[in-house]
Amino acid sequence: MSISSLVTRTTLGSAVRTKIICCRFPGETSMPLSNVEYVALRLVRKFLFTDASLMRIGRLLPYYQANIGMQSPYPIVQGWGRALGGAEPYRGVRILELGSGATNSAAYCLASQGAERVYAVEPFRSLDAAADSIALRTVAADAGCVPDDLAARVARIGNVEDVDEASIDLVVSHSVLEHLSEPEAVLRSLDRVLAPGGCMCHAVDFRDHFFKYPFHFLQFEKHTWTRWLDPGDLPRWRLSDYLRLFDKLGYRAEVPVQESDAAGYAKIRDRVSKDFDRDDPTMSVTLVTLVARRAA
Ligand SMILES: C[S@@+](CC[C@H](N)C(=O)[O-])C[C@H]1O[C@@H](n2cnc3c(N)ncnc32)[C@H](O)[C@@H]1O
Repeated sequence: MSISSLVTRTTLGSAVRTKIICCRFPGETSMPLSNVEYVALRLVRKFLFTDASLMRIGRLLPYYQANIGMQSPYPIVQGWGRALGGAEPYRGVRILELGSGATNSAAYCLASQGAERVYAVEPFRSLDAAADSIALRTVAADAGCVPDDLAARVARIGNVEDVDEASIDLVVSHSVLEHLSEPEAVLRSLDRVLAPGGCMCHAVDFRDHFFKYPFHFLQFEKHTWTRWLDPGDLPRWRLSDYLRLFDKLGYRAEVPVQESDAAGYAKIRDRVSKDFDRDDPTMSVTLVTLVARRAA
């Protein structure tokens, strides 16, 4: 499929169409060939896909592997555990999971590993009852538990505000922070519910979620990104931005698990938009699990 036919089908205005056919956006000097594919896919994602259709076909396309918890909660829960350390990091702990997705699978898994209570907070996705039921029964069977006993310790809610102040020992999230348009407001709401001595553990994926091009989205200036390419939930914050935010909120954040792709970043470094500091050492970071505790 050529770029021009794709763009015609999106019924974009002619000025924009011309710019795309020229493979150039306002503020960008020129584009490598890979951007033709990249921009076309981003436009299709933004203007033609709904979230529902994306969920339906997403499992078939490597570009759209969202909501990993739908596949298996175990890597997610093990990842938090690795970052937290200790033999049984969840036993007797009151946990809030931010952004559970379409099922409570990670919450059931945390309950099966001894969590006292788990709030699965999901404001935007409705529960996929069939998938959730399978997840509950699978986790219960794997752990040798009664499904109803696990379910009784899990509450799915739509808002952090519904949780009592200072009632949570551990806040966790997986692939959520990178989607927040107002991370400061969200972290402040989590701070309210965290008990003294409690901590947060967030797994964050800093890659462009077209995983074939993990850093391509850094080429575009904010206006271009927001108006034409952002699917609506990728504000492109870098690790250093989150570390500064935790610091501002009085937290000491550590990054015990971190992966980078220096070679991938090097390919795009010279094209990075002036909105970013291309020499920021965290620019090539792809995945982290960070642990944040209130500074003493
Ligand atoms: C990429 S999905 C990850 C889902 C699940 N944690 C997983 O890893 O499979 C991001 C989730 O974060 C949720 N989310 C986005 N903004 C949120 C917010 N302000 N508070 C809570 N959840 C939010 C979305 O609705 C979505 O379900």
